[in-house]
Formats: sequence, structure tokens, C-alpha cells
Amino acid sequence: MVKTLYDSDMRALAHQTVDALFDHVEGIAGRRVVDWQTPDELRARVRIDDRGGADGMALLRDLMENAIQLHHPAYMGHQVCPPFPTSVIADLVISTLNQSTAVWEMSPIGTVIEQEVVRWLADRAGYPATSLGTAVSGGSAANLTALLAARAHWNSKRESGVGSRVSEKNHASTPDSRPPTPSRPVILCSADAHYSIARAASIMGIASDDVVKVATDDQHRLDLDVLAAALRERKVMAIVATSGSTATGAFDDLRAIAALRDRHDTWLHVDAAHGASVVLSERLRPLVDGLDLADSLAWDPHKMLWMSLAMGVVLVRDGRWLRRAFEADAPYLFNAERASDNIGEMTIQCSKRADAIKLWLTLQMFGTQPFVSAMEHVTDLTRYLYDAVVASSDFEAMHVPDFNIFCFRHRSDDATNAELRERLIRSGQAWITSTVLKGQRVLRVTMINPRTERGDVDRMLAALRRFAAT
Ligand SMILES: Cc1ncc(COP(=O)(O)O)c(C=O)c1O
Repeated sequence: MVKTLYDSDMRALAHQTVDALFDHVEGIAGRRVVDWQTPDELRARVRIDDRGGADGMALLRDLMENAIQLHHPAYMGHQVCPPFPTSVIADLVISTLNQSTAVWEMSPIGTVIEQEVVRWLADRAGYPATSLGTAVSGGSAANLTALLAARAHWNSKRESGVGSRVSEKNHASTPDSRPPTPSRPVILCSADAHYSIARAASIMGIASDDVVKVATDDQHRLDLDVLAAALRERKVMAIVATSGSTATGAFDDLRAIAALRDRHDTWLHVDAAHGASVVLSERLRPLVDGLDLADSLAWDPHKMLWMSLAMGVVLVRDGRWLRRAFEADAPYLFNAERASDNIGEMTIQCSKRADAIKLWLTLQMFGTQPFVSAMEHVTDLTRYLYDAVVASSDFEAMHVPDFNIFCFRHRSDDATNAELRERLIRSGQAWITSTVLKGQRVLRVTMINPRTERGDVDRMLAALRRFAAT
């Protein structure tokens, strides 16, 4: 008989691993954020010896040591979170049970948990009962999925030759007598839109010229006048707004954009991968005022709800367009009786990890309070950094932060700013990122670790100053 490996050695390794992980996270502040190594040094560590025989615990410890330490309070880098432990614990269970949630009969319990989580998120977004959605691998997949639903809507308008917006409150839905929709689907998005919008368009066969980038205002929000002018020039398949843009965390004015959407009878997708979670905080919710008016939205619990990778969600206000986009003939999996429960009938994936379980477990155990306090804490810390930068003579703020992303710059040239970031992260003292904003190299911070405190922010700035002085 083939040995399954589920033996007492594995149980012991599992226990040791959990202890080692908790020790690692608890002791993290005493380490460097990363021990910088070259790709060759790292490759040498991981070379496979297929005769086996390695000490599993030693390998796992080595992996922990050599990771970028997202749990470190001085990690203020990319939009990848140090996940809540409930999510990590759920991950072990999700992997062990390995339920695939695309087809009802393959995981009834995984299916209903995903449906429950998606419904809960849709309610929080202010979406009606007719909305549908699925868990996806993240914001990129959510944006592609939503744009496919937008195209199903667009195609149906073309076929009928009239405005076919589904009649609902909040939507200007009157069938109109305007000429049939032209055949090239155009997307209007912000100049600061995440690259996954252009990539989704290219996957969908939309010409790059038909992804029109709309300029942003001085706070990096979609410029409404420029958007209105662009809409007057052409009929579009979809407008893409952003709630929490990647570069600066800017929130577009969704209510105003939804009004333009109504006037021009098109689709509004909101890439709220980063920012949708603020709906849970009474204090931060005004940032996404009008989110409920969007036709679709992307929401990543693996960003600002501190879930481990990968967990994104796509929501479509009128779920019929999501279903229409993914109609498939697969009698070996799908049948009419279970159509409404087969999540695979409205998503790209077929093998589909039951990731919604981690958010479900966290909410069931703790409710929304840990999310709200963590979000408000990182927002306050970002503001603290902004104030320190504004009060300084050697740094300048590039914008006023709305949430937890902030770009600033040493008052020197681009090359110095790039080098400051490089020296900081190689030193292991803190981790920040860098980007180009309106042609200038800037330093960029995402406050995403609820353990980061003001002292960590002060130390990060002091380290940058020390490097600048040499
Ligand atoms: C605004 C926005 N949209 C989409 C994405 C892509 O999300 P994911 O990395 O989960 O695919 C990001 C990621 O940083 C983002 O900031």
C-alpha cells in the first residue's frame, strides 16, 4: 500500500511548525525586515535534491528566516499584509480538506460558506439582493471578471441596438432611441488605474488604444471634467474608477462618476481592491460614498482585511451579467437543478480553493472590530508620517493621504530618492517602496501592519535622513 505520510512524524512536524511560526512572529521586532541576499545566494539555498532525506523543520525555519518579514513593525512596503492568525489557521484546514468550490457537489459546505461571505460583503457594499459575486484570486482577477460582465452587458446592448440597462433604482435605465452601440468596446480609466485594467482589456482582445487613460487631478483622483469630456467624445463599454489607487491610495468621487455613468448609459466598475474595506469603519466609510451605485466592484480581503493570499472578491450589482459572461456547456459538472449553486458557472476558475473560509472564520470569531481598529490605526499612522514630512525641511509630501498609502520625497533629485529607498531596504531597518508620480521618483509607504507604531515611523525617517547625509 502507498504510504500516505499521515503518520506521527508528520503530526509532530505540524505541531513544531505552528510553534515555530508563532515564535517567529512574536520575536520579529528583534530581527531585520530582510536579510538582503543576491538571487544566486538564495538559489543556492533552495536547490532540490530529489533523493530527499532533508530535515523538514530545518528547511521551514530557513524559509522563515529568509522571507521578507511582513510581520515586522518596520514593514511599510507593498500592499501585502501580515495576515491575521485566524486566516492562517483556516489556511491549514482549507488545504487539508481541499474542497473545490466551483461545483456544488464537490463542496456543498465550501459553496455555502463562499455564498455567505460574498453576500455579507455585498450587503456591506450596499448592493441589492440581485447582486452576485465570487471569491477570486485577487484584484486582477476581479477586474477581469467584472469587465467580462461589463462586456456581456455591452454585447446585449449592441444586439438590441438600444440602451439595455436593467431597470433598477439608482440607475438611469430608460431604453433610449440612440443609435446602436458601436462595435469597439472602449474602457475609460484613470491614468493611475492599476495595470490589471489594461491587462484585462488585452486578455479580452480590446485594443490598447481603446483603453483610454483619463488624467487625474492634483490629489490623483480621476478628473471629472476630463472624464465628462471623454464621455462626450465616444460611447464606452465601461468607466473604471478606483477606490484606493495603487500609487497614492486616492479615492475617486464615485457619486459624481456614477452620475456621469447614468447620463451616458454605460457601466461603472470600481476597482476597490485596496479601498472597499473602509465601508466597515464608520469614520472611513465616506471615502467610498457612492460605492453602492457601481455596476461592479473588486474587493480584496487579502489587502485591507488582513487575509492571507489569496482572497479577492468580485461583486456584480445585477448578477445576471456575471452569469451571462460565463455561460458554459459542461454537462459533466454543471446541471440545471444546481445552476444557482454552482459558483463555477460565474467565474474563471474550475478548481477553486475554498478561501472564503478564512474570512468566514475570522468574522464568526471576532466580528468586524479587529478590521475596523486595524484600518483606523494604519490610517492614523499614515497621517502621522504625513505631518512629520510636512513639518520637515528635508522631505516634501506629494499628496494628502486619504487612507494608508502615502508618497513623499527627499528634497533632492530622482537618483538620490531611488538610492535612499535601496539603501534603507538593504539595511534591513525598514521596508518602503518607490514609484514615479507625475514624472518624479518618489518614496512610497503602505502602512499595512497593525503592529507598526509611531516610533517605527520616526526610526524609518531617521534612517532615511542618515543615508541622505552620507
Ligand atoms: C487598486 C488595485 N487594483 C488591483 C490590484 C491587483 O490586485 P491583486 O494583486 O490581488 O491581483 C492592486 C494591487 O496592488 C491594486 O492596488
